[in-house]
Amino acid sequence: MSPEYALPHAETIYATPRYVAPVPATLPRGLDRVLYSADDIARRVREIGNRISAEYRGRDLVLIGVLRGALCFMTDLMRAMDVPAVVEVMAVSSYSGRGGSGVKIVKDIDTDVAGRHVIVVEDIVDSGMTLDFLLKYLSFKRPASLEVCALLDKKSRRTVPVPLRWVGFEIPDEFVVGYGLDYRDHYRNLPYVATLAPSELA
Ligand code: IMP
Ligand code: MG
Repeated sequence: MSPEYALPHAETIYATPRYVAPVPATLPRGLDRVLYSADDIARRVREIGNRISAEYRGRDLVLIGVLRGALCFMTDLMRAMDVPAVVEVMAVSSYSGRGGSGVKIVKDIDTDVAGRHVIVVEDIVDSGMTLDFLLKYLSFKRPASLEVCALLDKKSRRTVPVPLRWVGFEIPDEFVVGYGLDYRDHYRNLPYVATLAPSELA
């Protein structure tokens, strides 16, 4: 079943002036520097939104955002697209203990994705373990297609190869926060992506 209704084109919507948070003169304590401003992110999200729209027009699309890191990216990306989509969320957590390490599902999707086109929306891909687990898990649900859109890619840290269809930015091996990403539950609501001061991690 392909969705019947049409949405206005994303370019039209974004053509109107909108508020974009400026890069602050002083950063919150614990941060080092801004890697991507709200404006940088908005521009990139719009590009990716346009590409996905062009490719998924007429398809039955389900977006699955991975909580909590993908909160900002997901909500911006879905509004930068002009094709209808079902919006879903999942939550996973990584563990490590005596039995080894792994990923477990904290919240599963409620939508049946069999035969539908799924895009997993992630905040950041580091080792690739989380995503590898998620992709294997979701492929058991027999979607028509399964792709990944990640805001940030720490490519140099990859230990498990994962296919990333769209990437916002490839970043160096530094810990980053903001725009959904946290360090010990802080900084998620910053409108930009910044690096954590190395002294914080010590
Ligand atoms: P992976 O399984 O090693 O690829 O790790 C992915 C998860 O680790 C992401 O979804 C984030 O929650 C977290 N993570 C990895 N690097 C960073 C970072 O630089 N800042 C914040 N969270 C990160
Ligand atoms: Mg995450």
